[in-house]
Amino acid sequence: MQDASMLQDEILHLKKKRNAIILAHNYQRPEVQDIADITGDSLELARAAAAMAGNVIVFCGVDFMAETAAILAPEKTVLLPAIDACCPMAGMVTADELRFARTRHPGAAVVCYVNTTADVKAESDICCTSANAVKVVNAVSEDEVIFVPDKNLGQYVARFTKKTVLPWEGFCLVHDRYTPDDVARAKQVHPGAVVLVHPECRPEVIDRADHVASTSGIVSHVKAAPGTEFIIGTEIGILHRLAKECPGKHCYPLSEKAVCVNMKKTTLAHVRDALVTLRPRITVPKETAVRARDAIERMLAL
Ligand code: 13P
Ligand code: SF4
Repeated sequence: MQDASMLQDEILHLKKKRNAIILAHNYQRPEVQDIADITGDSLELARAAAAMAGNVIVFCGVDFMAETAAILAPEKTVLLPAIDACCPMAGMVTADELRFARTRHPGAAVVCYVNTTADVKAESDICCTSANAVKVVNAVSEDEVIFVPDKNLGQYVARFTKKTVLPWEGFCLVHDRYTPDDVARAKQVHPGAVVLVHPECRPEVIDRADHVASTSGIVSHVKAAPGTEFIIGTEIGILHRLAKECPGKHCYPLSEKAVCVNMKKTTLAHVRDALVTLRPRITVPKETAVRARDAIERMLAL
């Protein structure tokens, strides 16, 4: 097996040769985050995919993120190094189910979380991420909103709007597992630490947090906060960025078990191989991509 620094050197060389950029989500393995041009949350990575120069985007994340990049940058080759890296939540709503829901609520807007397939985005009025979900829901003109697929994020948004939010029944296998007991235990071990959680957590966990934010929102909060101790209620990959970017701050996981196995599938060897072969490539059929793009661009325009 090649050691990490040799692989990293090889990747940087290939990246130049291919005129590629590497985007990594905050939950990626530390060594993958370290070779990325940008490590960020879903919103930052979507914006980067839309704006960045280069011929190739190597997307170190999960399927829906690479699909979003392919929709926003159809002229670029978008690679998902680990082809089986998927988000189970994104599979919890289908385009057919959503079309049926629309017939039941004809006056409602459909807001889809970015953690959805391109087919579902194509059926939606506007997309959102965890960083802007409240803003997006408040921006639609309808008074009723079908929110897919994350019930926890939907319920979180409902706290900040006068609109009627109809949350779907999806959830994240990682965040939905946190319990109020996890918060109580972590606070006992680290009394005085500020509790930060992702809005994909259950309402009863959110109720016990001091602050709720997207993954990059959590990093910004830790950087700016006067305190030095934080309990982090999101996937543990974020701890690498926090350690790198927030010297002098101590961040503890709300649960060591909060691991997204799909986010951990991408290895340096996968990234190298993707740059050598320009595979696996993610593409979206044009007809779907055009409609999905409308929903994503409405979000980016806000
Ligand atoms: P962020 O957009 O906050 O990075 O979240 C993406 C995600 O999949 C969280 O589980
Ligand atoms: Fe999907 Fe949850 Fe993994 Fe995020 S952490 S990619 S929502 S399963």
